[in-house]
Amino acid sequence: MPREDVNPFPVSSPLAPADAVAREPEAARLLALSRGGHASRLVAPRRYGKTTLLRRLLEDAAAEGMATALVDLEGVLSLSSLVVRIERAYDRALKGALRRTVDALLRSWQVGVALGGGGFAATLRSNPRLDVEAVLLRLLDLPSTVHERTGARSLIAFDEVQDILRVDGADGILRSVLQHQSAVASYAFAGSAPSLLERLFEDPSRPLLEHAVTVELGPLPAAETAVFVEQRFRDTGRDAGDALDPLVRMTRGHPQRTMLVAHELWELTPHGGVADEEAFVQAHAAALAAAAPALRARWEALPVNEQRVAVALATRPGGLYAEETLRPLGLKRGSVDRALAGLVGRGEALRLAAGPELTDPLLEAWLVDRGLF
Ligand SMILES: Nc1ncnc2c1ncn2[C@@H]1O[C@H](COP(=O)(O)OP(=O)(O)OP(=O)(O)O)[C@@H](O)[C@H]1O
Ligand SMILES: [Mg+2]
Repeated sequence: MPREDVNPFPVSSPLAPADAVAREPEAARLLALSRGGHASRLVAPRRYGKTTLLRRLLEDAAAEGMATALVDLEGVLSLSSLVVRIERAYDRALKGALRRTVDALLRSWQVGVALGGGGFAATLRSNPRLDVEAVLLRLLDLPSTVHERTGARSLIAFDEVQDILRVDGADGILRSVLQHQSAVASYAFAGSAPSLLERLFEDPSRPLLEHAVTVELGPLPAAETAVFVEQRFRDTGRDAGDALDPLVRMTRGHPQRTMLVAHELWELTPHGGVADEEAFVQAHAAALAAAAPALRARWEALPVNEQRVAVALATRPGGLYAEETLRPLGLKRGSVDRALAGLVGRGEALRLAAGPELTDPLLEAWLVDRGLF
């Protein structure tokens, strides 16, 4: 039972599986692919719960006896930092007998890679001329040895995998090892920039992996989200009341935005109190104020035509291609498709059955607030 005076809606870091709205179908699919030795590629916009889901996947896989590691590639700078990230990932994930086996193996290599302690970063400081590529190749091939020694399959997840493109040649090194491992290891890749992921996986001359099954991470299901929010209010001595429906509707399953508005609503609801629609309006305004600086920065980084299409999507007075939408924005009909593809490629817009939509409901609200001009 959560403490009644602590806000139960986290808004920034990845969540432990027990604290998250369950994503059962996606988790089951990823686990089934991993068991079968298939690689998967999880694509979703920023803050959509990718890391949370990867954690859940690895927890499920570890419970079945797989050796797991969650490698965060965000901002990786060099082959050396890639080695350190992989080492750190094993260090965080491995427990019990598997940990002892891997630890002994790494030590036997005598290249300065180790679980716990200073590890490879310390080795590099004392020996900067080390052949890092050789160490990386060996570390990437660790699943083969683990399988030989223990019979266990490995499941390695690479998060923010598009950042591998920052390091010259690193995708080639990964490719050279990973493609021969399906009998001993499974890989899950996640990233938030669809266009960069396409570059990595769909380049016909050198895809990162020949066959990585795409798993799309959609919005959180409305019914489960409502139950989750309601329950967390109740567990902390509050009632989400009439604020619940507009909250779920307005945030339309965007995980971080749902939690952010719920977080603000909880702050506005005293212990023993019941939230109402007016409280939702206030919570929404508070969430928008909290998000505004980051929204502005994202907005300013967009090319002008993408800004125009984003405004059109937010305000949509008569459809994206209608003359009354295009003209006031200075947008030519012929430029719409390309700019929309740009927004989709960055994860800022989604193509839904009902038509394209901005991914982030708060970006939409921010644009509506600012008005057309
Ligand atoms: N399954 C979930 N249930 C409830 N909230 C969630 C869930 N997944 C994500 N969130 C919310 O979104 C936030 C970000 O989650 P997470 O870090 O997993 O997303 P991400 O897609 O990896 O983000 P980033 O693009 O920043 O790496 C969490 O702090 C939480 O507020
Ligand atoms: Mg993440």
